[in-house]
Amino acid sequence: MNHFERLERLLDRAYAPYSRFRVAAVAVDSEGNLYEGVNVESAAYPTTMCAERNAIFHAVAAGMAHGTVREVHILARDGEGAFVPAYPCGACRQIIAEQSSKDAEVFVYFSKERVERYTIAELLPHAFTL
Ligand code: THU
Repeated sequence: MNHFERLERLLDRAYAPYSRFRVAAVAVDSEGNLYEGVNVESAAYPTTMCAERNAIFHAVAAGMAHGTVREVHILARDGEGAFVPAYPCGACRQIIAEQSSKDAEVFVYFSKERVERYTIAELLPHAFTL
């Protein structure tokens, strides 16, 4: 199964009754392990969690060595069922930056045929770390 197929399946697990905007993310670490995440919304709207952070948190909880995320793949579908590009929000960029190397790549899928790729350093230059 390629990344797009995995993301497409994962979209069905998103919990997005309020926005109807489903997001799936897969993080890949330096050993090739995959960690899946979906957005999980809440009736208390701001407590919603994005797919990207859920994927990274899943990785950390599963024992991934900190800072070893190499790729994050993202696919989203709107309420009409159309694929729409979802660039990671600022909070997710911070978490990705902190759990990856600067040259880690973020893949934003527009469709099965079209994907844009960026390094996390392009998406979040001068990331804050301690
Ligand atoms: N969302 C994500 O999961 N990732 C993104 O990159 C952008 C936004 C979610 C949060 C919320 O459940 C829905 O998409 C609409 O904002």
